[in-house]
Amino acid sequence: MNTRVLTGITTSGTPHLGNYVGAIRPAVEASRRSDVDAFYFLADYHALIKCEDADRIARSRLEIAATWLACGLDPASVTFYRQSDVPEIPELCWMLTCVTAKGLMNRAHAYKAAVDQNAARGVDEDDGVTMGLFSYPVLMAADILMFNAHKVPVGRDQLQHLEMARDIAQRFNSQFGMGREFFVLPEAVISEDVALLPGLDGRKMSKSYNNTIPLFDGGARALKSAVARVVTDSRGPGEPKDPDASHLYLIYRAFARPEQAALFRSELIAGLGWGDAKRMLCDLVEAELEPMRDHYEDLMAHPARIEEILQAGAHKARGIATPFIRELRDAVGLRALVGGSPSASGKAKAGKSEREARFVSFRDENGRFRFRLLSPAGEEILCSIAYADPKEAGKVMGRLKATQGAVDGLVQLRGDSGFVVSLDGQPVAHGAESDSADGRDRLVAAFHAALH
Ligand code: TRP
Repeated sequence: MNTRVLTGITTSGTPHLGNYVGAIRPAVEASRRSDVDAFYFLADYHALIKCEDADRIARSRLEIAATWLACGLDPASVTFYRQSDVPEIPELCWMLTCVTAKGLMNRAHAYKAAVDQNAARGVDEDDGVTMGLFSYPVLMAADILMFNAHKVPVGRDQLQHLEMARDIAQRFNSQFGMGREFFVLPEAVISEDVALLPGLDGRKMSKSYNNTIPLFDGGARALKSAVARVVTDSRGPGEPKDPDASHLYLIYRAFARPEQAALFRSELIAGLGWGDAKRMLCDLVEAELEPMRDHYEDLMAHPARIEEILQAGAHKARGIATPFIRELRDAVGLRALVGGSPSASGKAKAGKSEREARFVSFRDENGRFRFRLLSPAGEEILCSIAYADPKEAGKVMGRLKATQGAVDGLVQLRGDSGFVVSLDGQPVAHGAESDSADGRDRLVAAFHAALH
């Protein structure tokens, strides 16, 4: 099976050179690998959390889509779509919100940073904090789990969000999965070898530092004038420069072949003037960007083409999301009242739950995993012991089902009105309380019948 790789790009800004080197270029390269099934999307619902300027959002969606396509993303071989074109994502987000502990969200770095800043300013701790910001990680989990992505390339600052997505996936699986793992547990991919591009002033290139070099915006002239503003030391031409102390060199290296970078390095040491060095940097970057910039400008002039590509991407994405959300609706109980649910599997299950006994997984007050077996009427027959690992609980449930009702050897009667169920000589569940031996016998019979 191919590895499914998924990542989102928040549409709140204009792509700069740092985005290109750190995210766009490696992602486009990765998407060309034949063993990868890539999902790239514009996280425009996420953009609403950070940005209140509607025109900015609209413009950014266009610029970012055009940028990724111009940089070589092939919409025929990847699934490239807008989050807001897939209504199953916010629907899943709500289902996940309902299994997510508020305490988990309280620990999110972005929310905590906002609270800390408020505390430092002496204002109410939730001042300016929206529910969007607070629940941001749940929406991100929905993005990822909707498509059961295995790998999620992200910046280091997103690691915690991936851990949360795994936590939320596990909770949903154990609450509603009945032994089935609806969601794959996604893994973050942080690439160590991708350059963190320094900005004009040497700090990380970032919109919030106002130190960026534009990627396509403003054309070759804007690139040139930004490069002219890269801060250097005051050594004049002929004086040896220290490449390792120069962010100009780091930017150069991100675009150069190794031997080119080595040459540039030795020229700096030999006294290359900063003016010449900047000209060389400009030529190098321009050689890589120029062909893509033409494509970019062409796309920006024809937004209908981009719209068409994104619509086709949404259609492809929904080909997966629509049947999956149907199963999830069924799992949480949002089913048709008559005639079964629209999905074939849903129909079978909806009918079944009316007539038959069922296992129900839950987490107990200590956060451990247990399950109950309920009779067709909803009466508790037994309750399992607590498991730290939901998979263990699922396995025991599976083994009980596999007995198909041959449970006589597993049941030991206890006292006047209790019973214990054991597997391999180890107790795994206790019969529900009954007030008489007769009641207990009825439950044991119900246990047998439930699995039969
Ligand atoms: N939060 C991510 C960022 O700021 C963007 C994003 C939204 C994302 N949904 C995602 C990334 C899903 C990976 C997977 O970078």
